[in-house]
Amino acid sequence: MSAAQPFFVTTPIYYVNDQPHLGHAYPTVAADVLARFMRLDGRRVRFLTGTDEHGQKVARSAEALGVTPQQFADQVSAAFREMDRLLDISNDDYIRTTEERHLRGVQALWRELERRGEIYLGRFTGWYCVRDEAFYDESELIAGPNGAKLGPTGAEVEWLEEENYFFRLSAWQERLLAWYEANPEAVAPRSRRNEVISFVRSGLKDLSVSRTSFSWGVPVPEHPGHVVYVWLDALINYITALGYPDQRGDYSTFWPADVHVVGKDIIRFHAVYWPAFLMAAGLEPPRRIFAHGWWTIEGQKMSKSLGNGIPPEALVGRYGVDPARYFLLRELPFGNDGDFSHRAVVGRINSDLANGIGNLAQRVLVLIQRNCDGVVPAPDVLSAADEALLAAARGLQPQLREHIAEQAFHLALEAIWRVIAEADRHINDEAPWELRTSDPARMRTVLYALAETLRHLAILLQPFMPGSAARLLDQLAVPPAARQFADLATPLAPGRRLPPPAGIFPRYVETDTAAS
Ligand code: MSP
Repeated sequence: MSAAQPFFVTTPIYYVNDQPHLGHAYPTVAADVLARFMRLDGRRVRFLTGTDEHGQKVARSAEALGVTPQQFADQVSAAFREMDRLLDISNDDYIRTTEERHLRGVQALWRELERRGEIYLGRFTGWYCVRDEAFYDESELIAGPNGAKLGPTGAEVEWLEEENYFFRLSAWQERLLAWYEANPEAVAPRSRRNEVISFVRSGLKDLSVSRTSFSWGVPVPEHPGHVVYVWLDALINYITALGYPDQRGDYSTFWPADVHVVGKDIIRFHAVYWPAFLMAAGLEPPRRIFAHGWWTIEGQKMSKSLGNGIPPEALVGRYGVDPARYFLLRELPFGNDGDFSHRAVVGRINSDLANGIGNLAQRVLVLIQRNCDGVVPAPDVLSAADEALLAAARGLQPQLREHIAEQAFHLALEAIWRVIAEADRHINDEAPWELRTSDPARMRTVLYALAETLRHLAILLQPFMPGSAARLLDQLAVPPAARQFADLATPLAPGRRLPPPAGIFPRYVETDTAAS
């Protein structure tokens, strides 16, 4: 047997200056679906998430609260872990940039860049934005109220003059362009790829990669007073978590990453700086970077000052973990911006979950319970319509593979829901309840085809709604050891006793009259 093909997926590591909210839940849930899908598909998966704890922004937030940056980071990092638990996230590792394993790796990569002549000492004079932890060119700035200069994201910038180390980014322009050209799938979606290519074509300047005006960071080796620029520090997490600088073991198995899931706001760091740093150190760039869009909340930008960032507890408490996960991935094409509204979530819960998969499952399971003594019925000869339904169910997995390879979660879910609609039609057309006396063998055949379809749906829904899909599989008496995608090929065994049916996807009933 050949060894399982490895798959490495990552989320951004989250700044600890903010409490977790829906905007952080989003990439984490998406990466979790990829990880779970690949595990079920027989891949050897490593799924990494964690927290980004250094830099001026975190240092200032800690100072404002009168605690040390480390205490502050410990607290908020724990809140992100709690977010993962609440959202049923199946990460294999959790990295914090203040961990020793990370520090060591960052310093090793720095030394390697220096040894290769990719880093030199210079003087930085220009604009820095602490909120974005980014350097901006004068030409990128926009005018704020009363003539103040703001970064392109609308955040305040500060004039900075300090002695810094620089990375020779300008020298990598042509090699980056050649890399995008040779790897058309490396930066996605297409609109982001185009944006990245035109940014690189417009000319790259050397990048400041150390800071001297504060100390909350990884010390630059052999150059006291300098700490590593927080973005260089942070990006390296993707390899320090694999044991870098040791290039054997996990690094050799899992690098290059299969997908870095990131937001569109941080695409430049991942698709320009990161591959350049890696190539400059003689390492391979990642295979793919996918940039998702941004959520607004009830039509408004999510912001700390508006206090409208929905915390994970609120999300899960109100809707349940699986409906929340489902909504996030179904509502928008991954890559597009969109709006999170209570009305839209309730609409999806009631129409797609309660009336869709929930209703189908309940109808089939109750009919089997009542009419087949609660055991999976043995089919007689399948009709053309039964065969068509089963063919649609069997055709799902290859379609899902294609959609998931492109991070098109909404298309994967749409495909599943087309089969749910077909199964609904089948049950209505065949009216098995009427066959009970007129043609019991036909009734058993129809119910078998429906139960087998349900098994396919439940197995394929596992990455998206793990808890609910598991309960559905329990109701179909599919043992936990038979829930991999490879098990799709082994049909449900007639004669197996099913537990009494119990609803899995309840309707959302409004309890709070103030909510719209
Ligand atoms: N620490 C950096 C990432 C370093 S990765 C080596 C960072 N952290 S962050 O906490 O500010 O943001 C993390 C991610 O959350 C980003 O990918 C960002 O796109 C995402 N989101 C934050 N708010 C969001 C929305 N309102 N909507 C969707 N995603 C958003 O950047």
